[in-house]
Amino acid sequence: MSERTSSKNRTLARWGQRSSSAAGSGEPGAPRWRPEEGRLLLTGATGFLGSHLLLDLLEHTAAELTCLSRAASKEAARTALLQRLAWYFPGCELSRYEPRIAVELGDVAAPRLGLSEGVYAELAASHGLILNVAGNVSHAGASEQFFGVNTRGVAELVQLARSGAPKALHHISTTSVIGEFPQGAPLSAFSEARLQEGQSFRDAYDESKYRAEVLLRQAFAEGLAGSVYRVGYVAPHSITGRFQPNIQQNYVSLYVRACTRLGFAPHLPERRIQPTPVDSAARAIITLLTGAGAGGTYYIQTPHTVSHYDIHRVLHAFGYSIRLLSMADFVARAGELSADDEALAAMPGLEPRTVPADSDWSRRELRELGFEYPVPTSAWLARFIRHAIEVGFIQRPPHWELGVPALELAAEGALDERQERGERQAAPEPGALSGAGAQA
Ligand SMILES: NC(=O)c1ccc[n+]([C@@H]2O[C@H](COP(=O)([O-])OP(=O)(O)OC[C@H]3O[C@@H](n4cnc5c(N)ncnc54)[C@H](OP(=O)(O)O)[C@@H]3O)[C@@H](O)[C@H]2O)c1
Repeated sequence: MSERTSSKNRTLARWGQRSSSAAGSGEPGAPRWRPEEGRLLLTGATGFLGSHLLLDLLEHTAAELTCLSRAASKEAARTALLQRLAWYFPGCELSRYEPRIAVELGDVAAPRLGLSEGVYAELAASHGLILNVAGNVSHAGASEQFFGVNTRGVAELVQLARSGAPKALHHISTTSVIGEFPQGAPLSAFSEARLQEGQSFRDAYDESKYRAEVLLRQAFAEGLAGSVYRVGYVAPHSITGRFQPNIQQNYVSLYVRACTRLGFAPHLPERRIQPTPVDSAARAIITLLTGAGAGGTYYIQTPHTVSHYDIHRVLHAFGYSIRLLSMADFVARAGELSADDEALAAMPGLEPRTVPADSDWSRRELRELGFEYPVPTSAWLARFIRHAIEVGFIQRPPHWELGVPALELAAEGALDERQERGERQAAPEPGALSGAGAQA
């Protein structure tokens, strides 16, 4: 029996023995993927998270990769991929990685992934792992488009994983599978092992990702090897502050733009977000994929939080004048906005979930593998604001002429000291920060 066959049999046995309550909590000794076991098929490589996963795989493993692309030709696919990498990672010498990257034209939403029979068989035979990052994340549009890519696309990849050589299927999911419990929550936290808890969903995106996890659990229970990574809010790069080119599809960036445009915002001193920089999300996923092996559901979510007030302090330092209003005053002013105004559109996405994720187990696994999430700093938030200004997403602040170094310096220390001491700032009064900052 070859090593790979016996490894597959161990996987089958493991999932066969697993009780449904244990599913998703991972197990020690799960088979690990090694690059020499076959090529890795990556979907969604041109996307925000996909580009960072691609670079992480190139930098930290010896994997040979095939990227599935919807481009019109292989040449166009390769060009689009390299251009996207060059945009995200200016200064990175990408040419040395090119020999390890192949492209194949396909569409996860199409039957047999839109591949010819020959190419399908070849991919099935020569790949040892599929990492599915493709997704429709636009949060608006016809439901069918979400289910086509986010659910049926996963079913197509399960078929591919079961064809030809043994291969594991690793899938990028979202914390949104937790859903909502409008009638009252039956549980206080949603651990990795939980999935079907009677939740409802805010939109078709959330539901399509949930349904994908349901079908993957079934496939894992039937013997398929693989893992699910439930990603939280993916934030700009931890060092450069670069964000996705489709920056307008993100609730937090929409919220920031709306605040700078309107000059007022709701005063939510206790509201906090958990922004996981995209490069750390990628590092965490590849650390688990290569170190923990197949066989778990993991949360990819920083434990560190940033409050709305922290964001406002940095915006203030840049010179934006944003009056923080009590909720009653905000609602009164918001009546002046049209229903489709982006300020209102961004608000639901920032609502906290009724049931939070319990990601302790995932973080422990990551810690054991030597990974820790970076602590967010005001310098990092400032680089994100600067990036959003430089790409023309938000208007320049009145003090732009002071120069970026002065503005970033003004933003320094807005939250670092408190973060480092692990403190939360006392809730300020409404109206705080209403004047323009940038006293440099
Ligand atoms: N960003 C977040 O905050 C976040 C949070 C939680 C989970 N996630 C998950 O992370 C994954 C990636 O998200 P992202 O923010 O990186 O999205 P993104 O930037 O919009 O990228 C989406 C990727 O999917 C590809 N794609 C879309 N439809 C496809 C299809 N039918 N066939 C093949 N490829 C297709 C796109 O290719 P093209 O170049 O052809 O468009 C692109 O490469 C998604 O599964 C999402 O659910 C993201």
